[in-house]
Amino acid sequence: MALLRFLDIPPRLELDPDGHGRAIGTLVLIHGFPLSAHSWERQFVLSESGWRLIVPHLRGFDEGGDPRSRTSMDDHAGDIIDLLDSLHVEQAVIGGLSMGGYVTFALLRNAPSYFKGLLLADTRPQADTPEGKAARERMVVMVRERGPSAVADDMLPKLLGETSRREQPGLVEEVRGIIVSNGTEAIADALTAMMRRPDSTPTLRAIKVPTLIVVGDEDTVTPPELSVEMNSAIAGSELVRIPRAGHLANMEQPEVFNHAVGRFLQRF
Ligand code: MLT
Repeated sequence: MALLRFLDIPPRLELDPDGHGRAIGTLVLIHGFPLSAHSWERQFVLSESGWRLIVPHLRGFDEGGDPRSRTSMDDHAGDIIDLLDSLHVEQAVIGGLSMGGYVTFALLRNAPSYFKGLLLADTRPQADTPEGKAARERMVVMVRERGPSAVADDMLPKLLGETSRREQPGLVEEVRGIIVSNGTEAIADALTAMMRRPDSTPTLRAIKVPTLIVVGDEDTVTPPELSVEMNSAIAGSELVRIPRAGHLANMEQPEVFNHAVGRFLQRF
């Protein structure tokens, strides 16, 4: 099967007197549902501190992407491992937002040696509740009957915090544009993968790498209290709460988000 499509942002390097530069490391950013790698574009400036960014479109996502999508987090994680192997990246700081966090938990279980550090943004370790699974089933029917724009209408008020919805109309349209560029089956399969995902709470205690947890104060999908719990469960982790941001904290308040991640990357 073809490798994942991804955005590859080279590091801006300080050159030594001989004109050679060396990247400090690689940062992998995994997007949430129902988005694509484009949702991380505001983070590309992090390459200015010498980091290479690898930002995959999960299989099936983004217009023109591989139509064969995935129905388990383990399969998405396997795609990321294949991509890193093909790029000869043996270790990276790996992070995900929301569903990207669910994929990251699967990676932690299946391939912990790839982690130099961990970023968990607006996500949760718990599996879906029975009510949550029923809501996903309804959304599968909805996307097959009415297409990705119906999913956008349903999700936008949940994804963006109330401050962003009030003050950033351009962002609302940008997120809608990302959602509707995805295929119906990619969205339906991602819903299936999310409802099947296991509880990752036991994984938290096994995390041994430096970890940054970031959450928007106005996140109602994965509320801040869940990040406070993850912060207690992951030894030595750091938690940053972002004011005036909802579930897409990286897009809603990118400067504050990038400052937190940039400071975290200085540890390596
Ligand atoms: C996401 O942002 O990836 C999803 O909203 C997560 C979820 O629905 O559990």
